[in-house]
Amino acid sequence: MNREEAVLRELNLHPLWKIKGVSIESPLAVAVQEIKPTQPSLTWPDLKAAVKSCALCKLRANCTQTVFGVGDEKADWLFVGEAPGADEDARGEPFVGKAGKLLDNMLLSLKLKRGNNVYIANIVKCRPPGNRTPDAEEINTCFPYLQKQIELIQPKIIVALGKTAANALLNNEAAPGSMRGKTHDYSGTPLVVTYHPAYLLRTPGDKAKVWQDLRLAMKIVAGS
Ligand code: URA
Repeated sequence: MNREEAVLRELNLHPLWKIKGVSIESPLAVAVQEIKPTQPSLTWPDLKAAVKSCALCKLRANCTQTVFGVGDEKADWLFVGEAPGADEDARGEPFVGKAGKLLDNMLLSLKLKRGNNVYIANIVKCRPPGNRTPDAEEINTCFPYLQKQIELIQPKIIVALGKTAANALLNNEAAPGSMRGKTHDYSGTPLVVTYHPAYLLRTPGDKAKVWQDLRLAMKIVAGS
């Protein structure tokens, strides 16, 4: 088994089938056939390399670069958004545009800082064209990368920012408003749902609710 095949196996992305219409530049440009139990031995460099060379779904062909995630790889706090936008696609880092500035202020309110006990990632690693919501196939294809990031980080809390993140992590279709105010579970890690910063930019009146959600998250971290 070569190195690439070994990494794909770790990510449950092996064995593989070719997707119709997807150009095959590397064996990574293939589809998931079956999910296997996860194995813990994949390293950060393996995972970063796998994401960088990924062309498993149609998003990669239309974006500038993959946006892996950023921050403290042993953080207590993991914030998960939806997908890179134009600024993130250009910079290669999540939440660096207007919504990112608001997220940084949210972190500040928790006496936290990007990179310091905080990791920030998205459900999908490539910008969807025109910033549309990623579709189910794109989310399912990309999700094993986030799964592995979570396994490696082992955060004390996951904060799902908005509907796409919450639905993907909790495997439901609920509205964010209905998921707020309680502690959920993602594979043994507590998870709190709050509004996406981009929504808050449009609806600043809901900032108090986000503060409530962040206080709940703070209590969970303090009590763990
Ligand atoms: N919105 C997201 O969900 N993620 C980003 O990285 C930027 C904006």
